Amino acid sequence: MPLLAIETTCDETAAAVITRGRQVLGSVVASQEALHARWRGVVPELAARAHVERILPVIDEAVARSGVGRADLEAVAVAIRPGLVGSLLVGLAAAKGIALGLRLPLVGYDHLAAHLYACRLAHGDRVRYPALGLVVSGGHTALYRLESPTTLERLGGTIDDAVGEAVDKAAALLGLGYPGGPWIERTGRDGDPFRHRLPRPLAADRDRLDMSFSGLKTALRVIVRPPGSPPDQPPPEGRARADLAASFELAAVESIVAKVGLALERTGLRLLLVGGGVAANTRLRAALVACGDRHRADVLVPPPALCTDNAAMGAIAWEHLDRGEDAGALLDVVPGTDRTVRNRR
Ligand code: KG4
Ligand code: ZN
Repeated sequence: MPLLAIETTCDETAAAVITRGRQVLGSVVASQEALHARWRGVVPELAARAHVERILPVIDEAVARSGVGRADLEAVAVAIRPGLVGSLLVGLAAAKGIALGLRLPLVGYDHLAAHLYACRLAHGDRVRYPALGLVVSGGHTALYRLESPTTLERLGGTIDDAVGEAVDKAAALLGLGYPGGPWIERTGRDGDPFRHRLPRPLAADRDRLDMSFSGLKTALRVIVRPPGSPPDQPPPEGRARADLAASFELAAVESIVAKVGLALERTGLRLLLVGGGVAANTRLRAALVACGDRHRADVLVPPPALCTDNAAMGAIAWEHLDRGEDAGALLDVVPGTDRTVRNRR
């Protein structure tokens, strides 16, 4: 019998029904993109309120699509960390209500571990442990050593912006839409990535696995809006914009890949699992595969729909249930980022 997974860590309201064999019977993601677009970023309070409106219809739709009834569910799972506190609480409240009402076990899972577990859904037995994990999303950019699907040790990562956050801001500077990733990718396709040599902060530092993206964003701003330019200066267009988008994308990709290469070298691990919305990026995917080839490591990346936030990756909850876990009514959320959240097991 399948479990119901619920995911409301940030701005997507998602639910999925997944069998013990990790088969996704039904998966629904209600995006809040349109709601946050005018602010060019997620507004936490708006996100939480939108989750309240959407969570029950999304769950109903996921269950309906799965072809099973609520009575056929075996357990309820919910992403409890990291994330925005108001958003997380909505998912938790829905999960508790359903679990208590149907007298089902309830487990919480880690959103970042789940992003990496999406590789398991897409690539099955090719996923083994230990492995190196790379999460690249709007809220997180980090490298992990995984001893198991649920045991993550952070090896390094961004010391300022997440790469997705920088991508979204770069898109705004270039007058492109939100979220910025797909726009930067599309616009940069016709551009010359070598036109501007943008900075790759920390990329050459071989002593640490940390990354930084805020200087890259500032460098772009200085080109697009040089000091002293009028506040209403229109964003670049055409060829100039395409070159900037491509140059930005290449700098971000090379910053990440430099640390992935170093991490593979240092750890000796032969498998890289990738997850998070930015992993949908074609240039990054190709660069990671090439990096894996250089280090004789397999690189597994989920298809784009499993890279961005979804509840199908809540399949990871089976790992907890198989250990007999049941947090029951005491389950709580752990808001914050991966740098503030400890003790993930
Ligand atoms: O994992 P995700 O859906 O949500 C978070 O947990 O943050 O990641 C969203 C981020 C956004 O910053 C978005 O611009 C970026 O992923 N993104 C991309 C692409 N598609 C989404 N970045 C680069 N290229 C893409 N094709
Ligand atoms: Zn995410």
